[in-house]
Amino acid sequence: MKEWYDAIKEAQSVEKLEEIRISVFGKKGVLAAEFAKMKSAPNDQKAQIAKDLNTHKSSLMNEFTARKITLQTLQLQEAMKAESIDVSLFTSKSQAGALHPVMETMDRIVEYFTAMNFAVKTGNMVEDDFNNFEALNLPKYHPARDMQDTFYFKDEMLLRTHTSPVQIRTMMNTKPPIRMIAPGAVFRRDYDLTHTPMFHQVEGLLVDDEGKVSFANLKYILEDFLKYMFGDIEVRFRPSFFPFTEPSAEVDISCVFCKGEGCRVCSHTGWLEVLGCGIVDPNVFKAVKYKNVSGYAFGLGVERFAMLIHQIGDLRSLFEGDIKLLEQFQ
Ligand code: DAH
Repeated sequence: MKEWYDAIKEAQSVEKLEEIRISVFGKKGVLAAEFAKMKSAPNDQKAQIAKDLNTHKSSLMNEFTARKITLQTLQLQEAMKAESIDVSLFTSKSQAGALHPVMETMDRIVEYFTAMNFAVKTGNMVEDDFNNFEALNLPKYHPARDMQDTFYFKDEMLLRTHTSPVQIRTMMNTKPPIRMIAPGAVFRRDYDLTHTPMFHQVEGLLVDDEGKVSFANLKYILEDFLKYMFGDIEVRFRPSFFPFTEPSAEVDISCVFCKGEGCRVCSHTGWLEVLGCGIVDPNVFKAVKYKNVSGYAFGLGVERFAMLIHQIGDLRSLFEGDIKLLEQFQ
């Protein structure tokens, strides 16, 4: 028996100990064999043999249990050492997502106008000639169509060149008064430093009874809006031309880079053009069969706003998806 006590004490692993357990306590183990032998022992010795065997059995079991606990503890300690985590170590920086500056700018624009009670409307990116041009007082062969190089499909369908067709769609299926903005992507055949074939605009339209909407109303809201977007700036209105508005104006803000002093970005004028606007042309109302109404409209390019707000120099960098650039807007 002594060898088995030694074997248990010297077992170096839980697996080895398990083998020993089977050899000692198993059905075919040493103890079972000893008990079997007892049957052929003289009757008067049987009781003593059984007593001795049972004493060994329980002491061996105690040894076994003690050794098992020791080995398991050692095994656990070793595993913990191997798997330990140093929480004070530096890790690689985790990457959090962020809104693209164009979307963030669009959200701010929408935030201003929804607070001013303008509803947000979306139209279709694939438009027809009527909504994109005709109803906006741009009949076929009108020279102003050349201002917007168009991607055409078959059957006079096209990719909208501006968000102004959403005005038409909204007026065609709603009665006045109207107070809406239309944010969205637009498409033109253009690609250089300052133009990309896809960009974003926000269109605005307000329509009410005849005589109720004036250029002064338009001027007030656009000035307030531009100060909300750019902070402490000057705003000026310059007479201009758009087929869908009469009179029309382009709106400038004092240069955000040089504060109006004159720099390369503002071509030394001190001013930056940021949007177009005007009083809705009667021909537009005629096209949507509106009578006895007046209104104003405006349109702006979101990328331009984003570039001026974040002082980004190259329009194309907004579309390259360069993580190094985008990370700066978290
Ligand atoms: N649709 C014009 C463009 O894409 C922007 C614009 C100018 C919209 C004046 C208007 C407006 O509603 O009144 O260049």
